[in-house]
Amino acid sequence: MGVLRVGVLGAGVVGVTTATELQSQFPTANITIIADKFNNETTSEVAAGIFRPNLSFTGPTPEITSQWIRDSYDYYDAIRSSEESARAGVSQISGYLFSKVDESLVKNHLLEKIVPVYRRTTKEELKLCPGNWKYGSFFVTLVTECTKFLPWSLARFEQAGGKIVNKTIGNIKELEQSFDIVVNCTGLGAKYIFSDHQLVPIRGQVIKVRIVHAPWIKTFFYGDSDTYIIPRSDGVILGGCRHYDSYDMNINKYDSAAIRERCFKMVPSLQKARFIRESVGLRPHRSVVRVEPELLDTGFTKFKIVHNYGHGGYGVTSAPGTAKHAVKYVRDLHSSSSVYSKL
Ligand SMILES: Cc1cc2nc3c(=O)[nH]c(=O)nc-3n(C[C@H](O)[C@H](O)[C@H](O)COP(=O)(O)OP(=O)(O)OC[C@H]3O[C@@H](n4cnc5c(N)ncnc54)[C@H](O)[C@@H]3O)c2cc1C
Ligand SMILES: *[C@@H]1O[C@H](CO)[C@@H](O)[C@H](O)[C@H]1NC(C)=O
Ligand SMILES: *[C@@H]1O[C@H](CO)[C@@H](O)[C@H](O)[C@H]1NC(C)=O
Ligand SMILES: *[C@@H]1O[C@H](CO)[C@@H](O)[C@H](O)[C@H]1NC(C)=O
Ligand SMILES: *[C@@H]1O[C@H](CO)[C@@H](O)[C@H](O)[C@H]1NC(C)=O
Ligand SMILES: *[C@@H]1O[C@H](CO)[C@@H](O)[C@H](O)[C@H]1NC(C)=O
Repeated sequence: MGVLRVGVLGAGVVGVTTATELQSQFPTANITIIADKFNNETTSEVAAGIFRPNLSFTGPTPEITSQWIRDSYDYYDAIRSSEESARAGVSQISGYLFSKVDESLVKNHLLEKIVPVYRRTTKEELKLCPGNWKYGSFFVTLVTECTKFLPWSLARFEQAGGKIVNKTIGNIKELEQSFDIVVNCTGLGAKYIFSDHQLVPIRGQVIKVRIVHAPWIKTFFYGDSDTYIIPRSDGVILGGCRHYDSYDMNINKYDSAAIRERCFKMVPSLQKARFIRESVGLRPHRSVVRVEPELLDTGFTKFKIVHNYGHGGYGVTSAPGTAKHAVKYVRDLHSSSSVYSKL
């Protein structure tokens, strides 16, 4: 047997973190990323990129979900505290989560255990935004700007000897000759090549604005009905919406108007901001994120696949943790083949 050849199908945040994790755990292997969309063509680049898992985010067990979130936080936090943080687009951010509906909506047991600060807001803080908010939390977390993080990660991957191939894969069997193991990080694409009917798009739309007259917006704000205002190095992201099972990639003017109205109501000074651009993305939602190995019967052999997709609205938050888990399965499949080849 020659060098281990691993293909990573997909170059969104899940694919690139899987590829870099593979490199760090298998330094002598030949790792190749195969994808037909990169950087600003991916769903990942549309993400606001805030590290905040929703309680509906689900792995196979609560323990595994917690582990993914913790591993992801550690991964980004190591970058954040390094000299590369600005180039990689990873920084610390703090802000408020408000609700008029229920106290439980401002709690988050997954985050509370991990982030440096997560506390209930004071009465004064509840008045920071107009609208008579009833419940609130203040917390410190991380934001990862995929506009920087993806190109930075790909460059690091190439420097470490990784290969990148721009190609559309119609059938996974096309990769069987070139690779010993393939990791499936195709996001919503998995719906087509692997016909996973549990995978559903949840459409989202965001507006990016630059604050000329209100540079004091340094903290994020979340309100009810998927309303968020997230300041980043490249502007302030205003969102959002969630449309289940919609494939519409066009900017919808009614969504734009609703996003503006909700965000301006929360932070009125945003009305003076200069518009930069709007984007739409389809979150690859699956009731349970799929991270698991599979031996695919291709007629001649069992082709070794590790799945890593279905991260929904929380792919930036969970990608490095699921990558670590997927690479553990790569190791298992690889060592089982070494045993097999000795027989
Ligand atoms: C508006 C919006 C806001 C969001 N905000 C946040 C947030 O604040 N925090 C957070 O954690 N998450 C957020 N998300 C979610 C996040 O964007 C996704 O979970 C994440 O991008 C999924 O990453 P991925 O790598 O699985 O998919 P993608 O980024 O879609 O990448 C898929 C890759 O697979 C490749 N591919 C697919 N099929 C094929 C094929 N047949 N052949 C070759 N290549 C193929 C594509 O070319 C691409 O490179 C947001 C999403 C949206 C839409
Ligand atoms: C996407 O990136 C490419 C290459 O850097 C650039 O030419 C293009 O203008 C970008 N597209 C958008 C919409 O930003
Ligand atoms: C979590 O996601 C669900 C489903 O998208 C949504 O209804 C709920 O408001 C979200 N919770 C929070 C705290 O954002
Ligand atoms: C990938 O190939 C497609 C089709 O040939 C091309 O349009 C696209 O610009 C390429 N992307 C990159 C990042 O090279
Ligand atoms: C790694 O694999 C790719 C894809 O099969 C191949 O093109 C390349 O030559 C290989 N590189 C090395 C160093 O083995
Ligand atoms: C890749 O993901 C899809 C999702 O449905 C799954 O069906 C498929 O089995 C996975 N991999 C392969 C090689 O088929």
